[in-house]
Amino acid sequence: MHFAWTVKHKPKSLAEIIGNQEAIKTLERWLRSWEGGIPQQRAVFLHGPPGVGKTSAIEVLANDLGMELVEKNASDYRTEEKIRRFAGSASQYGGFSGRKRVILLDEMDGIHGTVDRGAIPTITKIIKNTRCPIVLIANDFWNKKFVSFRDKKRYLVIEFKKPRTSELLSHLKRIVARESVDADEESLKFIVQRSEGDVRSAVNDLQALAQGKMKLTYDDVSWLAYRDRKDVIFTVLRQVLYGKTCREAKQAANNADVNLDMLFEWIYENAPYHFNVPSELVDAMEALAIANLYSGRIRRTRNWKLLRYMFDHMTAGVAMTREKSKPSGWIPFRFPQKIRSLSTSRAERAKKRGIGQKIKRRMHVSVATAQKDVLPYVKVIFENDSQMAAGLTEWFSFGEEEVEYIAGGKRRTKAILKLITK
Ligand SMILES: Nc1ncnc2c1ncn2[C@@H]1O[C@H](COP(=O)(O)OP(=O)(O)O)[C@@H](O)[C@H]1O
Ligand SMILES: [Mg+2]
Repeated sequence: MHFAWTVKHKPKSLAEIIGNQEAIKTLERWLRSWEGGIPQQRAVFLHGPPGVGKTSAIEVLANDLGMELVEKNASDYRTEEKIRRFAGSASQYGGFSGRKRVILLDEMDGIHGTVDRGAIPTITKIIKNTRCPIVLIANDFWNKKFVSFRDKKRYLVIEFKKPRTSELLSHLKRIVARESVDADEESLKFIVQRSEGDVRSAVNDLQALAQGKMKLTYDDVSWLAYRDRKDVIFTVLRQVLYGKTCREAKQAANNADVNLDMLFEWIYENAPYHFNVPSELVDAMEALAIANLYSGRIRRTRNWKLLRYMFDHMTAGVAMTREKSKPSGWIPFRFPQKIRSLSTSRAERAKKRGIGQKIKRRMHVSVATAQKDVLPYVKVIFENDSQMAAGLTEWFSFGEEEVEYIAGGKRRTKAILKLITK
């Protein structure tokens, strides 16, 4: 039986929730204020990026305060009528057990501002008359559809932020300890860095990599960088490059929830291999150039309205250029050069460059050649023959950190360095 670690290691007490201590205290104070009667702000709006503990916070607090949490997601209250049925009556009467109730409308981003017209006004109406606390949660509080919640008199708005990387790191350490996985600090740091503060995704990555293992090393995780996104991206790429209709191409990209700039790099890298009629390739690249132009303008002016033009050109624009192009056989998708070079961290690149320079001095080759053609062999030696590695360390005058980078482990580094001091 496999459990999602996000569920298995979900915070059960306030102490287990990382970050946002102030926000949670404010939330707790507000919940407690209901003990003295109905406060002026009858609803609280929690907002912030996904996976930082918004839902967890209210769940833990409700439990701590002995309240009954009546919980629904946006998909359950798409229409006015459904909201009324769920929250309307619940907000008027106490719980069965006589426990105090708190009503949670989670993932409000899912409410469609125009299609689900009436949803938000219904919620605000219910809040006006509610006799128990109502908690609203969404990622993007500043979205137009939520303007009515900006009224500070009626709504308490609490922002949740990403936890600090050190906090996230300790959280992962706690989990691997419970799972009896012996994880390198480096491997956990990599997962943390990659998650960009999203605790949920960090824990998911950790599980994907560490479940069932005794040990987790940096090598186990470093390749992860784009793994989980790759399937998604390949599907989108196929639709964009071979889509028959504009809609198909746009929808695939729309549904996939991938970063637009990253998707652009993928399309840009791969388009040349999938159009074999030169004039069509020209048109496809032209469409990408226009998309890129918009991208630059968006970055400069922060005019997000232009995003749709960038989007249309890079998806439908590319798809529509195909008329006769029909590449023979299966062509594998290529990983974008640009992303590949970004994926190694700056510190690591600097270290590698330093090593390259030392090799260059001794071997009279360029730094690039040293890194590309010499270093891999040096690495093999360092990983297998400490005696020879010690000799090379002296000859190239590598420092301790560099030896560790090349040898790929503390134990081996120690063995090599010991041979030198002798
Ligand atoms: N601050 C946190 N501390 C500990 N675990 C967290 C935290 N934030 C998220 N998680 C993990 O991610 C899962 C989903 O978090 P959730 O509270 O639903 O985030 P949000 O509502 O902000 O998207 C939780 O069950 C938990 O495993
Ligand atoms: Mg949530």
